[in-house]
Amino acid sequence: MFKNIKTAPADPILGLTETFKADPNPDKINLSVGVYKDANGQTPVLKSVKEAERRVLEQEDSKGYLPMTGEPAYCARVQEIMFGEDHEIIAEKRAVTAQCPGGTGALRIVGDYLHVLHPSASLWLSDPTWANHGTIFGAAGLNCEKYSYRDPKTNGLDFDAMYESIKKIPRDDAILLHGCCHNPTGIDPTPEQWAKIGELLARQGVLPLVDFAYQGLADGIEEDRAGLLELTKKVKQMIVCSSFSKNFGLYRERTGALTVVADDAQQAARVMSQIKLRIRYNYSNPPSHGGQIVAIVLGDKELKAQWVEEVADIRNRINEMRHLFVKTLKEKGVTQDFSSITGQRGMFSFSGLTKDQVNRLRDEYSIYIVGSGRINVAGMTPSNMDRLCEAIKAVL
Ligand code: LMR
Repeated sequence: MFKNIKTAPADPILGLTETFKADPNPDKINLSVGVYKDANGQTPVLKSVKEAERRVLEQEDSKGYLPMTGEPAYCARVQEIMFGEDHEIIAEKRAVTAQCPGGTGALRIVGDYLHVLHPSASLWLSDPTWANHGTIFGAAGLNCEKYSYRDPKTNGLDFDAMYESIKKIPRDDAILLHGCCHNPTGIDPTPEQWAKIGELLARQGVLPLVDFAYQGLADGIEEDRAGLLELTKKVKQMIVCSSFSKNFGLYRERTGALTVVADDAQQAARVMSQIKLRIRYNYSNPPSHGGQIVAIVLGDKELKAQWVEEVADIRNRINEMRHLFVKTLKEKGVTQDFSSITGQRGMFSFSGLTKDQVNRLRDEYSIYIVGSGRINVAGMTPSNMDRLCEAIKAVL
């Protein structure tokens, strides 16, 4: 049966990391996958996470299965960190959460849910969006469409075009919105624009699916809720897929969540019963370790404060790199305007580099950037900056 199987194409993001690892060049630079690196080029384990892990090892007394929806304490902390502890959605029990294997696992479950329960619904994705979105939802059998997002002339948000294309989305379709730190562009709507989007979606009867994977990496843990909170003021029903990969550095622990917000508690429970079926046939129940870490950190005042500071360090370092990158390019004599990168948020920026330039950077300089020109700013360090900017100048 395997005789005629052909090699599959490499994944546009994770496949590049495989090539990077095999590259013998000691000066190679990986700006592809969205993983944070500190100034020494390491992906650290946060101190708050280390302490929580110590407590997990001490306290854990069973390796029995978790419920299909995961650990209730973790799910409660997910809702509090996303909406804020006093939010009416929590008080009214209008939200139900399932712990999931990463944000990706949560997205796939939503794909299966929409495909089976709302078979005529299309899912609208921003143009551009994370390379894996189309693949996940396509694998689930969903029809995906595009709405306008980035203005190539300004490398900013084309809000008018976005608004106009959302206006055309039919009732009972769904739209995927990036809660903050849009992947791949780093361009987010303002809170006022979020309010307008929410109003429009409510009027149109379109379900928002919010991919919320970078809370804390733009302006702060609380500040980065702004868009989601604007939506909750206008729209009663939504689904949020969230992840602690980036803001807890828990990449390999697959620590995510799927939260359904409904009109009332009974409706939320009914939707979750359908979600549970999809969980059961995909992976049965989630892994536990990362969820325990998050529940311990967010449930302990001191550890939480330490974590908030650690996220601030991550955010500040990324922002410093944004400025240093633009400054160094100028110093090297690059005339093309990269200044919009300093205003973008989160790990990623759209560099405007063409596919050919990206290929040359990889083949001639061992610098790895996703084919779309998306750069992981969190992979830049003061020590790789000169080499990076010189190479970019050479290929421009
Ligand atoms: C990315 O966009 O690089 C990250 O979200 C990691 C991934 O799984 O692609």
